[in-house]
Amino acid sequence: KTEIVKIDSEHIEEDRIRRAGDIIKEGGLVAFPTETVYGLGGDALDADSSRKIYAAKGRPSDNPLIVHIADFAELEKIVTEVPKEAVQLADAFWPGPLTMILNKNEKVPYETTGGMDTVAIRMPSHPVALAFIRAGGGYIAGPSANTSGKPSPTLAEHVALDLDGKIPMILDGGEVGIGIESTIVDLTEDVPMILRPGYITPEMIEKVIGEVKVDPGIIASDSAKKPKAPGMKYKHYAPKADLVLVDGESGAVVEKINTLAQEMEAQGKKVGIIATDETEKYYKTGEILSIGARDDEDAIARHLYRILREFDDMDVEQIYSESFETPRIGQAIMNRLLKAAGHQVIHV
Ligand code: TXA
Ligand code: MG
Repeated sequence: KTEIVKIDSEHIEEDRIRRAGDIIKEGGLVAFPTETVYGLGGDALDADSSRKIYAAKGRPSDNPLIVHIADFAELEKIVTEVPKEAVQLADAFWPGPLTMILNKNEKVPYETTGGMDTVAIRMPSHPVALAFIRAGGGYIAGPSANTSGKPSPTLAEHVALDLDGKIPMILDGGEVGIGIESTIVDLTEDVPMILRPGYITPEMIEKVIGEVKVDPGIIASDSAKKPKAPGMKYKHYAPKADLVLVDGESGAVVEKINTLAQEMEAQGKKVGIIATDETEKYYKTGEILSIGARDDEDAIARHLYRILREFDDMDVEQIYSESFETPRIGQAIMNRLLKAAGHQVIHV
């Protein structure tokens, strides 16, 4: 039985955090809120804890975990060296939704890094996450707290649906703020490379450390280019339904989706539509969910995974989604949507 423990971010109940930290120190797992998505925490320096994480998520063990820290001083204890870019990026974006890849030292077991000599490290900004990391000994391995293949959890309820009975405790800090996973930047290359787009954009990173590349493997639809972050190769973030994106001028998109939805329903399929506040009233059929206002990128990011899960709950079989050319975090949002859609896009 999994215990769900409510935590008030503004007045963190010390005894509850201590109990969560004790579970980690004894080698157990606790799901916890971060500002991006919920994480599934275990002691990152303990091989057995990492094995348990893979088992609970049903995740392939070659897909490395992110190590969460709460104090910058912890960084140098688990890597071979701290490059100056890491210091600059930490100054600019930590605590926050940025993960850095560095060369690991012998303290970090290969079970945590999926056999790699590098380690992903992030200092989250969520106050509950920070308190929990400290209570758990300072190094918390934390993949997203979903079953492998499902959309990442943005609510404690999502975690419970996926992991109930598999872990002793979920810290419930309410809905997360950002809703998509952290940006990953690899600092082990000559030119730093973005391995996963997120809330922190390549432009924001370039302002701090100069030129960065974006891993071509994360935008390509063909499998010829293999993404460098092992996790990016899986078609995860996936709902149960088939998802198709429709891209183009707004009026034409609505018309196309209406036609497609009617055709699918004529075949007896249950249809879901991801609309926006501006367009939702123009859809004629199916389960219509608005993701937010078109120009509110933060809302779109925050609602995406919840909407995919809601369609799952309604047993929707076919989802049509508008695409979002949001300038700031749009690349990150479209990356998630394209992956969930297995890159099926109709241009109108
Ligand atoms: O926002 C986040 O980053 C959330 C919260 C909980 O912090 N965590 C998260 O973890 O998204 P996860 O495990 O779902 O995704 C980690 C990604 C995977 O794609 C993995 O392959 C990649 O990071 N990764 C981890 N270590 C790596 C390494 N050493 N080299 C390359 N990619 C790595
Ligand atoms: Mg994940």
